[in-house]
Amino acid sequence: MRRSVKAPARLDGVVTPPGDKSISHRAALLNSIARGTAHVSNFCVGDDRAAMFRCLRGLGAVIRRHSGCSFSGDAECFEIRGNGLEGLSEPSSVLNAGNSGTTMRLVSGLLAAQPFFSVISGDRYLRQRPMGRIVEPLTQMGASVTGRAGSSLAPLAIRGGDLEGIDYTLPVASAQLKSCILIAGLYARGQTTVRQPAVTRDHTERMMASMGADIEVDGLDVSVRPSELTPVDVRVPTDSSGAAFWLVAGCCHPNARVEIKNVGINPSRAGVLEVLTSMGARVRVENVREEGGEPSADLIAESSDLVGVEIGGEMIPRVIDELPALALAACFARGTTTIRDAGELRVKESDRIGATVEGLGRLGARIEETADGMVIRGPQALAGAECQSHGDHRIAMTMGIAGLLAKGETTVVEAEAASASYPDFWATLETLAGR
Ligand code: S3P
Repeated sequence: MRRSVKAPARLDGVVTPPGDKSISHRAALLNSIARGTAHVSNFCVGDDRAAMFRCLRGLGAVIRRHSGCSFSGDAECFEIRGNGLEGLSEPSSVLNAGNSGTTMRLVSGLLAAQPFFSVISGDRYLRQRPMGRIVEPLTQMGASVTGRAGSSLAPLAIRGGDLEGIDYTLPVASAQLKSCILIAGLYARGQTTVRQPAVTRDHTERMMASMGADIEVDGLDVSVRPSELTPVDVRVPTDSSGAAFWLVAGCCHPNARVEIKNVGINPSRAGVLEVLTSMGARVRVENVREEGGEPSADLIAESSDLVGVEIGGEMIPRVIDELPALALAACFARGTTTIRDAGELRVKESDRIGATVEGLGRLGARIEETADGMVIRGPQALAGAECQSHGDHRIAMTMGIAGLLAKGETTVVEAEAASASYPDFWATLETLAGR
């Protein structure tokens, strides 16, 4: 599918992107191994949700649409019934994680702990993403995990069970890897400790704690001991990564006011607000509240005079999914923006350094690729052109927002990739643009 976008004279409105994908995935997985029934409202939508549900149902989990959660009543409400840690059963076929790296890595942690055989795979993009990073610790814990290319790529064949806790220092700051090990750790003998090089999103720790797990956080180190989980009802906040696109649109369009409702502002995810604020963005944070251990707020972004900044070091894991959108914002900022220490971007749904530089470059951005980031010189007016999504939802959406800011018409090829996390993205974009 191709999508063509033109800049509107004004960008104005209130948007509510889907529920947070990371929190939704954890709510589905952890409640599937709790003992009892939970309701999760404002569940994320899209292909990645389908992937997680497919894998959990393949293991015998019961996940059903529910007609309105009593505590919120919205349409994206699901009932999840768990039979405890030992309640899953051997899948009769290959588990298909589709395009979702979070599904593959978190579910693999679960499979490594099960006393049965399973195979997990994904689409052609996911089958190229590094899995050695989860194979290594899961093998150390005692699971048998093998895969293609010396067990570094999916499909992964897993024979699990009988795990021993480990003390593991993460070679990369990855919440998926941390969560994979912590989930396996729920089943392992003794204590499992994960040591992070920098803060990564902590939704797994928060949710496990709220479900009564024996989990302890000490700075960058997280330890878990074998624990039964109590089901937990969750009202999922709006995805801050989905919200980031509208924040950038609101700040960079010369005549804009965009309000985004009920956005998750967990500090381990809210780097995009900090970076935009340091760029001089006019973003207001209102109605701060907390529910189920996760803070949220309404965000309002207005046309801003931005300046270039340096983004690197410990900030990177806290903005990892928002960097393509921030690179777009940097095109409208006075001065140079440097993104460094972001080599992980090369192994996301696409090589997001290459894809961002290519896409924004086609629109006339002064943007250069480095080994672990990008350098953007602004301000530079963009001019519409044809660009590719590379099958990556966040690249598709970044280029769609670029189309709202560029002169002339921008066409995004393979635009349907947005539906991995945000199926209504293109419709919302048209509404906001007043069409
Ligand atoms: C995620 C963690 C991040 C992020 C991904 C979702 C998660 O990946 O890019 O979209 O839900 O844990 P890494 O932590 O592996 O960098």
